[in-house]
This record gives sequence, C-alpha cells and structure tokens, in this order.
Amino acid sequence: MEQVTVAKRLDGIAFAGIRKVFEKANQLEAQGKKVIHFEIGRPDFDTPAHIKAAAKQALDKGLVHYAPNSGIPALREALAGRLKADKNLTYSPESEIIITAGGQEALYLSFMSILNEGDEVILPDPCFGPFPLAVGLAGGVPVKIGLKPTQNYGYDWEAVKKTLSPRTKAIVVNSPHNPTGGVWAEEQLRAVARFAGEHGLWLVCDDAYDNLVYEGCRLSPAGFPGMRERTILCGSLSKTYAMTGWRIGYIAAVEPVIGAAIRLQQNIMLSLCTFAQHGAVAGLTGSQDCIQAMSQEFARRRLLVLDMVRQIPGVVLEGNPQGAFYVFPRITLPGMTSAQVADYLLDNAGVAVVDGLAFGEHGNGHFRLSYAVSYEDCREGLERIAGAMKMLVQKNS
Ligand SMILES: Cc1ncc(COP(=O)(O)O)c(C=O)c1O
Repeated sequence: MEQVTVAKRLDGIAFAGIRKVFEKANQLEAQGKKVIHFEIGRPDFDTPAHIKAAAKQALDKGLVHYAPNSGIPALREALAGRLKADKNLTYSPESEIIITAGGQEALYLSFMSILNEGDEVILPDPCFGPFPLAVGLAGGVPVKIGLKPTQNYGYDWEAVKKTLSPRTKAIVVNSPHNPTGGVWAEEQLRAVARFAGEHGLWLVCDDAYDNLVYEGCRLSPAGFPGMRERTILCGSLSKTYAMTGWRIGYIAAVEPVIGAAIRLQQNIMLSLCTFAQHGAVAGLTGSQDCIQAMSQEFARRRLLVLDMVRQIPGVVLEGNPQGAFYVFPRITLPGMTSAQVADYLLDNAGVAVVDGLAFGEHGNGHFRLSYAVSYEDCREGLERIAGAMKMLVQKNS
C-alpha cells in the first residue's frame, strides 16, 4: 500500500504524555484493579447547578444558532465585569475581549495573532504541553527556560537574560503554574513585567488557574503601570467553575490583538457553543460561593498532600506549591528515569502520575501529581506511593 504522509508541521507533535497514562490506567481498571487517578488535570467537582440551569434554559429558549465570532455580548460583558471586580482591570467588552474554546484556544489565537515567522517566545520549562506547539504552529520559536523550585518555580533570570535576542517577541507567565503548582510572588511578577516593558515584549499570561491560589499573590501583571497595553490575558472557566467540558475561555487584550483573534476565530471555530456561553454568563454573574467551596476543598487536600509527599522515600519536593492542584516532586533514586518510576507506580501501586518529561526537558526526573481527586483518594494514593517507593529505595540500596 502507498505510504500515507501527513504535514511536516505535525512532525514534532507526539501523543500527549498524559493521555498515554490515562489510557493505561483505564486498561488496568477494566481488569478490575482500583487505580488512583493523580494524572488528571481537571477538577473532580460537577459544574454548579445554576450554571447548568442557565444553559438548559438557553436550550429551551431555542438559543441553538451561531453566536457572534467574538462571543455573545452578555458573556463578554460578564467577563469584563469579573476582571474589574476581581482584578481591577478595565477591558471593553465590545473590542477587547474574545470568547475562545477554553484557555487552550486562547493561547493558540494569541500566538497566531502576535507572532511572525522566527519570532521567539520565552516559555517556562516545564510547562503545559501545548505551549511550545502553539508557538511553533504560529511560526514562532519556543525558547524554554528552566524554573527555580525554591523561588516559587519562577524563571531562572540569568538564563532568561542570556536568551534575549532581537527576535524575542513575548514572554509567558503561568501563575499558578501547571505542572508545579508554583505561584509567583509580587516581586517576581513585577520583575517579569519590567523585563517585558524594557525590551518591548508581549507578556502572555496564562490565567487558567487564577482562582486557585491558596497562599501567595493573586495580582495580575496587566494591572502594573504601563502593562495593560502589552499584556495578553488568556483565561478560562474550565478550572474555576469545574467546566472543562464546556470549552469556554477568553482573551482580554488591546483591540488590535483581539481584532486579529476575531478574524482568525471567524475562520477557525466560527463561534463557540451558544447555550454553553449562556451557562457561563450565569457562572460569572451569579454567586461566587461555588469557587470558594471548591478552592477550600483543594486547599484542604493540598495540606495533606504536601505533608505526605514530603515523607515519601526516594523523592524530594524542593518548592512550596501554593496554587492550582499540582505538586511536582523530584525523584532522587539513582539509575531510574521518571518514566520508569511513573510506570512502576502504576503497575505496582495502582497509582497514575505523569512523567515530568511530558512537560519539558527540565521536567525530566520528576512526576506530576494532581490532587483533583477526593481527600480519601489523596491519602490512599500517597500511602500506596510511599509503600512502593520504600520498596524501590530498599532494592536500590
Ligand atoms: C496551564 C494551562 N493553561 C491552559 C489550559 C487549558 O485549559 P482549558 O482549555 O480547558 O481552558 C490548561 C489545561 O489543563 C492548563 O493547565
């Protein structure tokens, strides 16, 4: 048979590391084994009832047709209202906000809107997998910078300064951070904003976890003097309201960027699901107590997880993850890769974690553990990991 070839631009795109673990875990479950799912990066809560009710009502009213390319006006207004109330940021719902298919499409549209061929983008390493792909598909070059666990998983500034070039176009901030849970301190956010300002760069802020900060700073760099004009906020309702399947995110930025993103959106998605957008309006304009309730539960699990992870033999947690729902311990066992340890934990302890290498080279030797599972599962899973790691350490000594 003739060899089927696909576009070369897809050459670097591997099957996501997280999906591989997920599928293997599902196979074990099909054989009747109980697996603890520390690999999944989504809240384990249901979408709050009032959000679902608003979407159902929209369906019943027949709101089933195309929406405007930039999103329904009520949702853009609701987002502008939240950005003002929560972060004291002012964006025009008419010209400075676009609704996207989750934060992930927000990132793709942003990079497509600002990058020319060969433009460089400074990214954290490890990072959320699609970042380098989104930059590359937009013609840009991802420049990955290692993070410092003991400095809230912030950029290694010496490395950042060394990589600065005439082609540097943007620098990315993702605080709280996937996969480490790191939350940058105010001085760190101010430093990156200053750096972007001094060198005329875009600051792309991935705010997917902005409502999941348990300790530390919640400021947005867009609020710092002179930064509104050069910051692109890529946000999402996925994690905040347990709405990952609804696919609602947004970009807030100056008009030329949003204008470019709308032209792309017209030709890519056309528009987002209309009744899902009506549900999202209810989320943003209704009581925010649901966020508080979910975040309190995550905060409770975080304390348990930090305490238990720090006692696991053969791993060390160098930083203090203060947000999202992740921890990213480093494996200290010699002679074993993080992929081998992740496989070992799934096969021997029935616990699924993600090999840190899935998030970039600097993630090698770590694994990501997501505590978006019940408190009881957090405890049981960590007990299982501790037991399995103890055996590995004994074998290796
Ligand atoms: C850092 C980060 N950004 C963006 C996203 C995209 O989320 P969504 O497209 O569901 O908004 C994720 C999802 O896990 C993420 O971890």
